[in-house]
Amino acid sequence: MASEILEDLFFIERGYLNANHFVYRSKSPTLIDTGYIAGLDETIKLLSQLDVNISDVSLIINTHTHCDHIGGNYRIQKESGCGIALHKIGRHFITTNDDWSTWWKYYNQDAKFFNCTKTLEDGDVIAIGPHEFEVIYTPGHASDGIVFYNRSEKLLISSDTLWENDMAVMTLRVEGSAALFRMKDSLKKLESLDVKKVYPGHGRPFTDMNKAITKAKKRIENFTLNREMIGNDLLKKIIIYTLLMNSGWTHTHFFSYLMETYWFKETINLYFNSEYELKYNEIMDSFFKRNMIKIKNNCLFTIVKP
Ligand SMILES: [Fe+2]
Repeated sequence: MASEILEDLFFIERGYLNANHFVYRSKSPTLIDTGYIAGLDETIKLLSQLDVNISDVSLIINTHTHCDHIGGNYRIQKESGCGIALHKIGRHFITTNDDWSTWWKYYNQDAKFFNCTKTLEDGDVIAIGPHEFEVIYTPGHASDGIVFYNRSEKLLISSDTLWENDMAVMTLRVEGSAALFRMKDSLKKLESLDVKKVYPGHGRPFTDMNKAITKAKKRIENFTLNREMIGNDLLKKIIIYTLLMNSGWTHTHFFSYLMETYWFKETINLYFNSEYELKYNEIMDSFFKRNMIKIKNNCLFTIVKP
């Protein structure tokens, strides 16, 4: 579903597999983020409902290089020849084919490299049609994370730096243990802004930025006091994400699949004493109890919106 947040600039709310994205409707449209690769047909459909054809796109701006934000980049660039802008660190990941730092390899996610043509830095101002957005560098969740602030209308495009009721996953094995502190500093940066409405990377738009920041800061504090919380949060989020990326697993096959990924064993080694099966069963049972994962025709699926 799309809503017009500034003249001809539309916010499109997606789900968990595909990040929310934006489109500026004009003869040469601009996109902010492009969803997950498997969600591209839906992305194209949603854009066409706003009379935007992907072959006309002139520029894609990404908030960071995670797979749920850049999934449409390759194909849209192929069909339109559009430019793609990233923070300088994200540009470095893409130009050096570093699919570890983008998390794609670590989490076994599907994504395709593309050609990054423009570098963004903290303090830059980008024009999307007549609308100006300040680029704010907010590392923590992602080392190339940026958010966009429209000062005149007090709008913040917060991507995965700030959600309303939850916090994006922290992957310390890729980002390093100091990432929690970077996240805290990034939230502090946002606190100083006068914001009327926040458009997050996942979930509905919201108005009370400071309440969301307080919650996120509390979460970080809990993470620093109790490392197991980081592991539990990561396992839960990535298990759901994995079931959204792929379907058709039986319970046994799913566990064997997870054991072959980089992230699963490493996370349990790091936070839970290498108790792979025990931890897997504990997490899956909690999902079954909450009806978030169900079994149909012997296969696992999640009710979480993609
Ligand atoms: Fe992300």
